[in-house]
Amino acid sequence: MDCKIVTIPGDGIGPEIVREACKVLDRVGEVYGHKFNYTEILMGGCSIDAYGVPLTEEALNTAKQSDAVLLGAVGGNVGNSRWYDVAPNLRPEAGLLAIRKGLNLFANIRPAYLYKELAEACPLKKEIIGDGFDMVIMRELTGGLYFGERHTEEVDGCLQATDTLTYNEKEIRRIAVKAFDIAMKRRKSVISVDKANVLDSSRLWRKVVEEVAKDYPEVTLSHMLVDNCAMQLVMNPGQFDVILTENMFGDILSDEASMITGSIGMLSSASLNETKFGLYEPSHGSAPDIAGKDIANPIATILSAAMMLRYSFDLDEEADAIEKAVQKVLTDGYRTADIMADGCKKVGTTEMGDLVAENIEK
Ligand code: NAD
Ligand code: IPM
Ligand code: MN
Repeated sequence: MDCKIVTIPGDGIGPEIVREACKVLDRVGEVYGHKFNYTEILMGGCSIDAYGVPLTEEALNTAKQSDAVLLGAVGGNVGNSRWYDVAPNLRPEAGLLAIRKGLNLFANIRPAYLYKELAEACPLKKEIIGDGFDMVIMRELTGGLYFGERHTEEVDGCLQATDTLTYNEKEIRRIAVKAFDIAMKRRKSVISVDKANVLDSSRLWRKVVEEVAKDYPEVTLSHMLVDNCAMQLVMNPGQFDVILTENMFGDILSDEASMITGSIGMLSSASLNETKFGLYEPSHGSAPDIAGKDIANPIATILSAAMMLRYSFDLDEEADAIEKAVQKVLTDGYRTADIMADGCKKVGTTEMGDLVAENIEK
């Protein structure tokens, strides 16, 4: 199979982790006889440096013409970098929001799974971890606070900032359908997370999710308020199968869920529209504090590449091969610094990528 992939290394650790994911994809190509063709585009701070904007029209069009996009991360030290001394729509993250919106990537899937080997890196007590956990956060990605009208004005000599949160029925329905579809292939449970005790948008969310649930009689639906969910995630993570939630809540809860998998460096993600097209990226950011040191964990990006094979190219066996290789490397005791534990062998970004690539087998 010939696959047209656009890569966006981005900023900070982005280029380091994308390089390792491509190394693994290339090995998959060798073993299974596929050709992955890469076209690189700029986005984020590096695009601001080159073109004065975080994403050019041309770069967006190149992404549109590909089969799938593999992204590292964008951004710098927020508040302490030249990239932030400009209007909000010209900052690095605006490029990411523009590509998500421009490609209509409304469904963000973030699987949070605890490898048994990483139980020591998980900050939870053994009795809480129990038999481990395996959940998927289904986050709405093109609506809500991120895309509402916003402005800052002066009112009576006092600065006032406004961000608006809007959802319509259509936006809620399509993400709910994706969540129920995924639940049907898993343990058939959806927990929809909202703030229906306060927000109108959450009350509409609940109503629409209830309607969608009627088409999935085998799936158990329950609702949870977001503050409670944040607590339940660290009290009893095993209870979650599919978490369905809006944009901002999903952003925050997925970082929380990532830490209980051992590290944010483990959490992959896929952002999908209604077609086979997708953008694949780790859930973490550009980690400027560790950039260029060959210590970042590339596994989230490598697992995102596996999601690309599964969702965009229907290459399930090849995706399994990547996941098995990651599992094998962890079983063999190799760890990057963020997941390091007593008795394990510490490796850097490049070596971790090499190890996963070497373990790709048919
Ligand atoms: P971050 O996720 O970049 O880093 C948070 C902490 O986790 C840091 O200590 C970092 O060193 C660590 N970390 C992150 N990824 C790691 C990895 N793969 N291996 C080991 N450790 C890792 O979040 P932040 O510091 O809040 O944000 C930094 C920049 O990244 C900001 O500009 C932010 O806007 C941006 N950001 C971008 C994306 C994206 O492009 N998808 C996502 C989140 C944040
Ligand atoms: C993520 C990031 C982005 C988000 C930022 C960088 C805009 O935190 O992908 O989780 O909030 O969606
Ligand atoms: Mn985030």
